Amino acid sequence: MIINNNSTIRKSFASDNWSGASPEILQALIDINPGHHPSYGENDPLMDKARHLFREVFGNDSQTFFVYNGTGANVLAVRQLLRPWEAVVAAHSAHLNEDEGGAPEALSGSKILTIETENGKIKPEQIKPFLHSIGFQHHAQPRLISISQTTEMGTVYSIDEIRQLAQFAHANNMLLHVDGARISNAAVALDCTFKEMISDTNVDVLSFGGTKNGLMFGEAVVFLKKDLADGFEYNRKQGMQLASKMRFIIVQFIAYLEQELWKRNALNANQMAQLLGKKITSIKGITLSRPVEANGVFAFLPVELIEKLQAEYFFHVWNEEKHEVRLMCSFDTTADDINGFVEAAHRLI
Ligand SMILES: Cc1ncc(COP(=O)(O)O)c(C=O)c1O
Repeated sequence: MIINNNSTIRKSFASDNWSGASPEILQALIDINPGHHPSYGENDPLMDKARHLFREVFGNDSQTFFVYNGTGANVLAVRQLLRPWEAVVAAHSAHLNEDEGGAPEALSGSKILTIETENGKIKPEQIKPFLHSIGFQHHAQPRLISISQTTEMGTVYSIDEIRQLAQFAHANNMLLHVDGARISNAAVALDCTFKEMISDTNVDVLSFGGTKNGLMFGEAVVFLKKDLADGFEYNRKQGMQLASKMRFIIVQFIAYLEQELWKRNALNANQMAQLLGKKITSIKGITLSRPVEANGVFAFLPVELIEKLQAEYFFHVWNEEKHEVRLMCSFDTTADDINGFVEAAHRLI
């Protein structure tokens, strides 16, 4: 929401974390606020309830830990699974590589080996070249494949693609991590459950996002195999991601899963992205640069339009040279917001 010079209130298409929190989440926070409550999630019946919900979603072998943010979830997952001389293989565009300020390398010591991609997705055959260095003491040892679901380019891995990556990882003594900052948008796009997408495909660890889909803050690290989580409590504490007022993260995830808020919110964001994709391409000179698969719309805009439109509805330029922009829809994006944006584009062009 932006208050511009005319004091009108307007949403942006900058990112799905520019939106606020869902009313259901705010209510859960208000309800848990009064009185005193165990800290750190220790001996806390609410923690038992949240973990139970996560086990219902991901299966009985899963173990879930709450953290403050997505960078923390990714970094701690890497640090948990890798020794410092072991490496992560990821798309160059991965948040882990491009947008975490070097935190994964700094805090885990592990190198990130990157793959250039057209659409943010990596395939097993692109990982193969890194395997030549296995057992060669001069090279970092590839041990973890990390993918983002949805990707930073708005694309969605199919269930089969994830399964193939997991098979490839395990056949090569590697593990598979999924950065699921937008996993709910992916589940809605694929019309599947989290279990079908993550547990049944044999993923090893998941960063389960909430902030981009209606939570105020808070993410979860979900280990799908029990022994992988050994000692994670210490890792999280050392990594400064253990919340003392843990109840405020826990209740958000309970509301998110119990009431299927994740689905309603992601469905709206994805549907709005479809609508935006359709409407915006009715304007002469605007074309989609990628198919709309989840809640992101990527489009080429006439260069002279970009700044003028940004002044009314902020969004990020994705590729300066190509005049490609990224328009993100959120749980609270409405058809009116989209109509306003499209009208502004018509007027300003
Ligand atoms: C794909 C992806 N992963 C992880 C994150 C986590 O970010 P943060 O640490 O800001 O919560 C983001 C946020 O932009 C993201 O887009």
